[in-house]
Amino acid sequence: MSTNSICLLGLGYIGLPTGSMFALAGKTVIGVDPSPRVQAALSSGVASIDEPELQTLVTAAINSGRLRVQTRPELADAFIIAVPTPLDPTTNRADLSFVKQAAWDIVPVLRRGNLVVLESTVPPGTTRDVLAPILAESGLMPGRDICLAHCPERVLPGRILVELEQNDRLAGGFTPACAERAADLYQAFVKGAIMRTDATTAEMVKVMENTFRDVNVALANEFALIAERIGVDVWEAIRLANHHPRVNVLRPGPGVGGHCIAVDPWFLVESAPEGTRLIRAAREVNDAMPEHVVGRLAALVSPPAPIALLGVTYKAEVDDVRESPALRVAELAVERGYAVRLCDPHVKPGTPGLPAPLLPLEQALRDAEAVVLLVDHRAFQEVDVDLAAALVSGKRVLDARNALDRARWQAHGFEVSLLGSGDSPRPAGRRTERARA
Ligand SMILES: NC(=O)c1ccc[n+]([C@@H]2O[C@H](COP(=O)([O-])OP(=O)(O)OC[C@H]3O[C@@H](n4cnc5c(N)ncnc54)[C@H](O)[C@@H]3O)[C@@H](O)[C@H]2O)c1
Repeated sequence: MSTNSICLLGLGYIGLPTGSMFALAGKTVIGVDPSPRVQAALSSGVASIDEPELQTLVTAAINSGRLRVQTRPELADAFIIAVPTPLDPTTNRADLSFVKQAAWDIVPVLRRGNLVVLESTVPPGTTRDVLAPILAESGLMPGRDICLAHCPERVLPGRILVELEQNDRLAGGFTPACAERAADLYQAFVKGAIMRTDATTAEMVKVMENTFRDVNVALANEFALIAERIGVDVWEAIRLANHHPRVNVLRPGPGVGGHCIAVDPWFLVESAPEGTRLIRAAREVNDAMPEHVVGRLAALVSPPAPIALLGVTYKAEVDDVRESPALRVAELAVERGYAVRLCDPHVKPGTPGLPAPLLPLEQALRDAEAVVLLVDHRAFQEVDVDLAAALVSGKRVLDARNALDRARWQAHGFEVSLLGSGDSPRPAGRRTERARA
């Protein structure tokens, strides 16, 4: 059965680019999002998120007449659900309320022969055990009267448009015929391979991928903590270790963020609480890194010193502050009594949830006692060190990303500390041991 019209629920980081791609591939797309912010932006033709080239794509999609935006779903050949699946912070379980609501929103407009695709990342079993029963309330049985599939997203923020088209992706069907129907839909613009499987396997694969990343970052972070204790530069150690043909240690940092890698491993823990010791430990290691960074800061300056924190987003060159470890560092520093100034050229003024004022670089640096680099945005790597030297009073820098040109900052009189490098003061016990030896 051909799919000409798509009703896409959730016009965020995933839904908006996906809907625009389908529109430009010739499908009629009804984009649905109840958010007044999203509605206001898109009704005036403005992409509601910051992603390279997205504005051009959205403008082209709207101008083609094949993408329109509204607040409620309507009849279509296919429905795609790309709504949030956050973590419930009290239980560390997936909050599926948005997915359930989106499914209930579709029920009145479902028709025989429709295809429903869940793109949101979910704990394994959700399509079968949560989504299918809600859709069946329409009187149409998934796998018999309608097709149902899970087609997870693998795109990297900052490269979403390229990866949407080029990445291989999964079509996980409620039945093999459902997988086939979903694969056929995505062929409209996907140039990568589309691999057919069942819905629960597709759900498992998606969360496994992000868990793999999280566990490996945790290992790099643990190496960094060890290196600091024993007086080794972990960056040099990793560089040397990665010469081994079968070793690829990732980069340590102030923690793991974004609403995928820091969240999805918990979906596996939720699925098998007794069998996920390693995954849980990795989450704990990564979640403890912001506290560690604030500990390193305390070795440089004490509260209430004014400090400039460079970077708020969860990674470089994006505007997304969800689950950002940099934001957590800022919260902890405010709690400890530092006069925190935040600076991030990618974050819009007025972004909710910031614990301190967001200032232009010069204002953030002026009379600061210390500077902490938390996100390796290019703008910070290319910062004018002459200007920084003229503004910053304390001349102390903590680089939590190994992104600054250390020699250049040192040449301007800065004392530069590096996360993962044994330049931090050693614990007293260790010093005594060495002294005895
Ligand atoms: N952002 C990424 O890089 C990425 C990558 C892979 C997978 N994912 C997954 O994709 C899903 C969506 O993520 P996102 O980053 O696009 O989220 P997002 O928060 O940017 O966007 C979700 C949108 O859904 C809207 N929404 C909520 N309930 C709705 C409903 N009932 N009907 C219609 N719209 C509704 C919200 O208003 C919001 O605009 C999540 O499960 C996420 O884990 C995201």
